[in-house]
Amino acid sequence: MIKIGTDCSGMEAPIQAMRNLGVKMSHEFSCDVNPTARKTIAANFPHAIMYEDLTKRDNKKCPKVDMYIAGFPCQPFSTAGLQQGFKDKRGRGEIFFHILDMLEKVKPRVFILENVSGLKKIEKGMYMKAILKELGDLLGGSYNVQWQILNTKQHGVPHSRNRWYCVGILKDFDTGDFAFPEPIPCPSIELFLEERDPQLATTGLPRTTAKTSTRNVKLALKDIRKAGKNPFKQTYIVDCDSSTGRSAYANGVMPCMTCSRAAGHWVTSRGRRASKEEMMRLQGMNPTHFKVAVTQPQLGYQLGNTMSVNVLERIFVRLLPAAKLAKASELKDRWESGQAVKELSRTRGKGFKVDAVSSPTTPPCRVSKRRAGSTTPSPPLKRLRRMCPTKCAV
Ligand SMILES: C[S@@+](CC[C@H](N)C(=O)[O-])C[C@H]1O[C@@H](n2cnc3c(N)ncnc32)[C@H](O)[C@@H]1O
Repeated sequence: MIKIGTDCSGMEAPIQAMRNLGVKMSHEFSCDVNPTARKTIAANFPHAIMYEDLTKRDNKKCPKVDMYIAGFPCQPFSTAGLQQGFKDKRGRGEIFFHILDMLEKVKPRVFILENVSGLKKIEKGMYMKAILKELGDLLGGSYNVQWQILNTKQHGVPHSRNRWYCVGILKDFDTGDFAFPEPIPCPSIELFLEERDPQLATTGLPRTTAKTSTRNVKLALKDIRKAGKNPFKQTYIVDCDSSTGRSAYANGVMPCMTCSRAAGHWVTSRGRRASKEEMMRLQGMNPTHFKVAVTQPQLGYQLGNTMSVNVLERIFVRLLPAAKLAKASELKDRWESGQAVKELSRTRGKGFKVDAVSSPTTPPCRVSKRRAGSTTPSPPLKRLRRMCPTKCAV
């Protein structure tokens, strides 16, 4: 039984990945400062202890775990932000030092830390070097530490999401066999999207009150047609909530989903925004296993913040045997074999496990034409955007 604890737990992507692998585990603790994240966790991931703020915890009292995972806040390191790093005025850069303290006190056999890829570049890599030095010196140099930038789209899910992943293995247990997963072919985005309604595809547009997103979608459609392509038949994804001029679109790949794009990017072949189920699949998550416990904008915010399950799962397949936590023969890379995508594509049209009790919106699969392009953020989303001032977009 592998004991696992997570900080900055969000949507518990690590627990989802471990479940997919069918590994026996005991989920010892979660921790998130955001009450809506805690709602999602409580509804979906039964655990022993829920901490509310990792900076206020006495790590000596934390349960011992074999695996510790934290996707710590990216804002102080985001290329879209002020890049204040450890000097972040809101104290978020300090979170890393609390994570370090946690590792020192609990001494898990393995840890995974995740952050935006911008971490590698800021101050010419100074912050990343400082982080790696601290991790390397931990407990007298007890851990072997490796890192790599991995993109979700190179690991079985068509979503362009570059993230920094750092893996530590206690030297006493390290077989020396760990290597980050190699890229695999990117499957078609059609396998992740709901069925196409041909009429909506050609008529759908964001609400006329949402001037910027409407303008961005119209400009993208014109541009794609000019290139001789049919955007209503071929799937282009438009980052329609960006300021005009910066709004980009991509063919067959979801541009990076972030918490500032909680309403979903525009899908030209569907004539509507990406639904929350589609956004889940594009993070490697199975919506039919997931109970929605928060509003749709809050769910969109969480989906923009989370680690991708496919990437974590592929890391775990290699990490658990390398740290003698599981036998290699017991674990399968479901993304490499195509099994995971097959399973996800079968969830299309099936919605979530249980519809949101508190969600005020209709189930997103059955998008009505009038609602399809809704872009006016509801008050909760506006509040959420204020909480994420740097927009984490990289
Ligand atoms: C980039 S997100 C990562 C989410 C998560 N790793 C996942 O896979 O869904 C950062 C998370 O850290 C949480 N967070 C920020 N400061 C925190 C703190 N002091 N204590 C606990 N969680 C914190 C945020 O609420 C957010 O959910």
